[in-house]
Amino acid sequence: MLYLVWVNMMKKIKKTFMQEELLYWYDHEYIILPWREDKDPYKIWVSEIMLQQTRVEAVIPFFERFIKRLPTIKDLARVEEDELMKLWQGLGYYRRVKNMQIAAKQLLEDFDGVMPKSTKELMQLKGIGEYTAGAISSIAFDQVAPAVDGNILRIFARLFGVKEDIRSSKTRKELTNIYTPYIPSHRPGDFNQALMDLGRKICTPSKNPKCEECPLSSHCIAYQHDLQETVPFLSKKKARKKQQITVLIFIKNQKVWIRKRPVTGLLSSLYEYTTIDNHLDENDIINNYSLNDVIINRLPDSKHIFTHIEWDIKAYLINTKLSKVDDVGFYVDIEELKTTYSIPTAFKTYTNWLLKKDRKF
Ligand code: ADE
Repeated sequence: MLYLVWVNMMKKIKKTFMQEELLYWYDHEYIILPWREDKDPYKIWVSEIMLQQTRVEAVIPFFERFIKRLPTIKDLARVEEDELMKLWQGLGYYRRVKNMQIAAKQLLEDFDGVMPKSTKELMQLKGIGEYTAGAISSIAFDQVAPAVDGNILRIFARLFGVKEDIRSSKTRKELTNIYTPYIPSHRPGDFNQALMDLGRKICTPSKNPKCEECPLSSHCIAYQHDLQETVPFLSKKKARKKQQITVLIFIKNQKVWIRKRPVTGLLSSLYEYTTIDNHLDENDIINNYSLNDVIINRLPDSKHIFTHIEWDIKAYLINTKLSKVDDVGFYVDIEELKTTYSIPTAFKTYTNWLLKKDRKF
């Protein structure tokens, strides 16, 4: 009996040491980020959504531009879709910002325009899952809430020498159960952010993390047993489907033909150049669009990787006399690609090419 009391006491002491060592490191290595300047839950929400697919350094200018234009939940709820897409251009995965606008409207209707504190309520909002709810709740409202992302799975798998596949839901659950009791009630948001910073700067996905600089190395089983190369174990992802795409850039008097994509599916409601499934050659294009007397130039090939699909793009420039290429599109000044229309990154080779002052054709 006495022995068990002693073991529990030692465990508690070890836990407190680990928490304090990590928080001490965070207090000294803390990086100033624009969403860390105050605890505005709206800003923390925006940052967390942007950070889901993009590195911290890359997010900063997007975040600042977004918050300057849409400083409140009300502004986000009311902005026109085209302008919202333009603000998100370059971040990709546009569904995230569409969901944010739906959630902003939900907040105005159901929550008096105020972000709720609890993960349970936050998860009622469109696009907010367990991770984002945990991050907002802990960082903005000091609630003890887990925010399990890849960083935290990797760090806790290494700390506790968990060798199972961290992509499996069973291992995720196991690691969440290990990590949650470690979140200290006096600084839950700082603890979670310290783990995010540790995962990015020290306990990186590389096979050679910077263990010598790690404040937790004395607690880390992977470090003590030299397991950093094999822990965490990640099973292979399913291969992406490859899709052949042809992009046609129709130009007339320095204007380019664009159209809006359908409201559902990949890159929904965004603008695009004429985009066709499969690879076409010059003859296919001439026949499909009944073109005669036009010059068709090949543009560079490109690739774009989405989460589950990879586009293999062949592209052509067509200097045309057509007043109308199809029933849905319209001509815009090339300069308007910069200011007004959001053409997704998947087409950036061609947008950059069109905007080049010294382009050949
Ligand atoms: N990654 C995700 N959320 C973050 C945050 N709040 N700070 C740093 N990196 C993050």
